[in-house]
Amino acid sequence: MPIDNMFPENGPAGEAGLFELAPAKINLALHVTGQRADGYHLLESIVTFADRGDVLSFAAAEADDFIVSGRFAHFVPADAAEGDGNLVLQARDLLRRTLADRGIATTPVAIHLEKNLPVAAGIGGGSADAAATLRGLLRFWDANLLEPELIALCLFLGADVPMCLKGEALMARGIGEELATLPTLPSLPLVLGNPLIGVSTPDIFRRLLRKDNPSIGARDDDWVPFLKTLRNDLEPPARSLVREIDQISNMIGAEGAMLTRMSGSGATCFGIFPSLETAQKAVDSLNEQKPDWYFQAVQTIGTEP
Ligand code: C5P
Repeated sequence: MPIDNMFPENGPAGEAGLFELAPAKINLALHVTGQRADGYHLLESIVTFADRGDVLSFAAAEADDFIVSGRFAHFVPADAAEGDGNLVLQARDLLRRTLADRGIATTPVAIHLEKNLPVAAGIGGGSADAAATLRGLLRFWDANLLEPELIALCLFLGADVPMCLKGEALMARGIGEELATLPTLPSLPLVLGNPLIGVSTPDIFRRLLRKDNPSIGARDDDWVPFLKTLRNDLEPPARSLVREIDQISNMIGAEGAMLTRMSGSGATCFGIFPSLETAQKAVDSLNEQKPDWYFQAVQTIGTEP
């Protein structure tokens, strides 16, 4: 979906103003292909986005303000501390400094983040929020940056932020900054499942026993069989750390998924279903089995002509 279409009709709690959806990111496949001298891993990943996610609103204010609501609000920091502070505020401050360097004045802004996605979950979360903040504030301040400048800002905030800024079906390479649109990925009905056990991305990369993996190569037109031939290389180390990943993946599979896999560094697993109706039925059943976990039916963004 092009960025222009990512403005949800309703902001958090029906607020009026300027909104941005920060959609869940799903790695349909993730192959680790190498490692850079600075330790970052080189990846090839088929990435898509859900029609659901966090929602941000931006409104004029006397002074900067930031509030967080939603199911997972308690899990996010409300300050901008370097490293582990909220990525929304880090993105706001970084963009403001960058615009100031170019002589562009910015006004105070009240940001409301509705945190609907579980955190440290392998589905973007903070990265999607940071990207949505950049998109939203550029609109709010009526400013623009050249694409390479914007990508550099994104990378400063995290390796997954550039793909979240694009928000469309992509093949991602490098550490996630080389992005190519996938022109024929269909819209897929998915079930997302997370046991609400946070996973640290660096921990999973440290546990990765890296073999030199073949790259993803050419895609097929029949996407589900093609995706079945691929994998997520971060799944074995994540499964060894969080045993619930086995359980949640089996549970989603038992509900009739055509393919189950983990997204990102976990612990969220997804299952591809034949339709949104069957995905929603699966979620109802999964919620009965594990009421304290997170299950959500989503439809991913496709690029099929
Ligand atoms: O960039 P981000 O903050 O999301 O990455 C968190 C950590 O995950 C990095 O510091 C690095 O240890 C690891 N990582 C990696 N290769 C990537 C992305 C992340 O090794 N492509």
